[in-house]
Amino acid sequence: MDTAATEAWFAPGRANLMGEHTDYNQGFVLPFALAQGVTATASGRDDNLLVLRSKQAPDDPVTVHLDSLAPGSVSGWAAYPAGVAWALRAAGHVVRGASLDVDSDLPAGAGVASSAALECSVALALCSLSAVSVPRRALAAIARRAENEFVGAPTGIIDQSAALLCTEDHALLLDCGTLAATQVPFRPAAADVSALVIDTRVTHALVSGEYAARRAECEAAARLLGVPALGVLTDLRVLDRLSDPLLRRRARHVITDSARAREIAAALQGPGAVHAAGNARKIYPFIGKLLVEGHASLRDDFEVSWPEADVTVETAIAAGAYGAKMIGGGFGGSVLALVPTGYAGTVRTAVTETFTARGWTPPEFLDAVPSPAARRLS
Ligand code: GLA
Repeated sequence: MDTAATEAWFAPGRANLMGEHTDYNQGFVLPFALAQGVTATASGRDDNLLVLRSKQAPDDPVTVHLDSLAPGSVSGWAAYPAGVAWALRAAGHVVRGASLDVDSDLPAGAGVASSAALECSVALALCSLSAVSVPRRALAAIARRAENEFVGAPTGIIDQSAALLCTEDHALLLDCGTLAATQVPFRPAAADVSALVIDTRVTHALVSGEYAARRAECEAAARLLGVPALGVLTDLRVLDRLSDPLLRRRARHVITDSARAREIAAALQGPGAVHAAGNARKIYPFIGKLLVEGHASLRDDFEVSWPEADVTVETAIAAGAYGAKMIGGGFGGSVLALVPTGYAGTVRTAVTETFTARGWTPPEFLDAVPSPAARRLS
């Protein structure tokens, strides 16, 4: 039934230097693409079926007819690729059937945007097989719609944007209000710095209630302040107008994290930049300090951190990291640490030993190398 040549499309996961839970608030984010991601190997079909297989879920292949796709009609991992086909069609594109085999070297539920990597690799494969041309920003919106409406996770636009728009050796400063995107030079290795993703092995699910609850709280705060979204605010004095201390904390997180994303971008764009080891002494301690502030804000103001992340941040800093923070939606997932390369081994050992001493599942480590966005492999 396969009637076209096979194509392979890859989309990366991401780590986020700053700006968590700011995307759906129209604030700033500063992610970079990882080298790890999802590969979708696909061929077209003439029977309007989607045949979906995942190396990570070998016992759960799913076959669906394109015409039967509707939000809620597919569950589990296959909801993401099926949702992409649904969202492409909902946007008016004529999508043909396909056999899709996906494989991932990203941990799932670890805060490194494996869902968006799955969506975006499949989106590019389906577009190519269907001879449909969609600009990448529009494709990011379509992939997000798949996640929001088909899967039912009320997430923002950072992950799909990172997967589709990032470039090698850069972070992406994205204004989620206007979607203006700036490529910011980010080459930690050139400054003898290692970016380390530490997977705490506590998995999260964004379809669960806490993420949606945070989003609703932010919307309530914005309504009370008379603004379309908290991300448009920059002056912390407006917080005095919120009488509810919880909403005040949530809003403070969004305003300060968005400001920190811009500050880090400015530091990375600064004269002489960060590409010489000599400058690292100044810039990376500064960025590290902002990472630690960002983590504290996520822990205390936004209340989305979890014990393993807090301990990882403390341990990494004590072992020589410039700074560290949780990344992604929270309640599980990973920490990003910026570490002088000479201390990377010490940090790994210290975090592993601390986890072991507490009886926690040992963490996994991923070298986070600023990498290119999604692309065709073959
Ligand atoms: C998840 C969501 C994103 C974003 C982050 C938190 O990764 O998919 O849209 O909200 O959480 O920054």
